[in-house]
Amino acid sequence: MSQRTLVLLKPDAVRRGLIGEIIGRIEKKADWRISALEMRRLDRSLLEQHYGEHVGKPFYEPLVEFMSSGPVVALVVEGERVIEGLRTLSGPTDPIAAAPGSIRGDFGTIVRENLIHASDSAESAERELKLFFPTVG
Ligand code: RTP
Ligand code: MG
Repeated sequence: MSQRTLVLLKPDAVRRGLIGEIIGRIEKKADWRISALEMRRLDRSLLEQHYGEHVGKPFYEPLVEFMSSGPVVALVVEGERVIEGLRTLSGPTDPIAAAPGSIRGDFGTIVRENLIHASDSAESAERELKLFFPTVG
């Protein structure tokens, strides 16, 4: 089942020089393709839409501060079961609980600075792709 998902390489990944490392892992999965890619800074209003489910939670303000602290790399990735696959490749939210071999497990330590976002469902992917890449069919 071919799908599309939104991936963000978060500001910590960009600052730490891990763009190539992370994109390399995505590219090495058989038959997955990067079909759009852009480096950009995210403003509060976009982040509020992207992370709408978290507005009002204690970690929301620090999350927005962090996500707007530097550029991110946004990607559209296409391929077989790519929504579930990118969540697996990323690992769970807490990098200390994430298995070695996953991106968060290999490179992260603290929950907020966990390197990568990947859409968590088909519904989220559709909403987030429209938000970040409105011109990509
Ligand atoms: P994401 O949306 O960024 O892909 O991450 P996720 O699904 O694994 O985790 P989610 O629950 O959606 O949380 C969004 C991001 O908020 C930060 N966070 N901080 N307790 C905390 O301090 C806390 N909880 C979450 C993380 O950056 C997380 O990825
Ligand atoms: Mg999430």
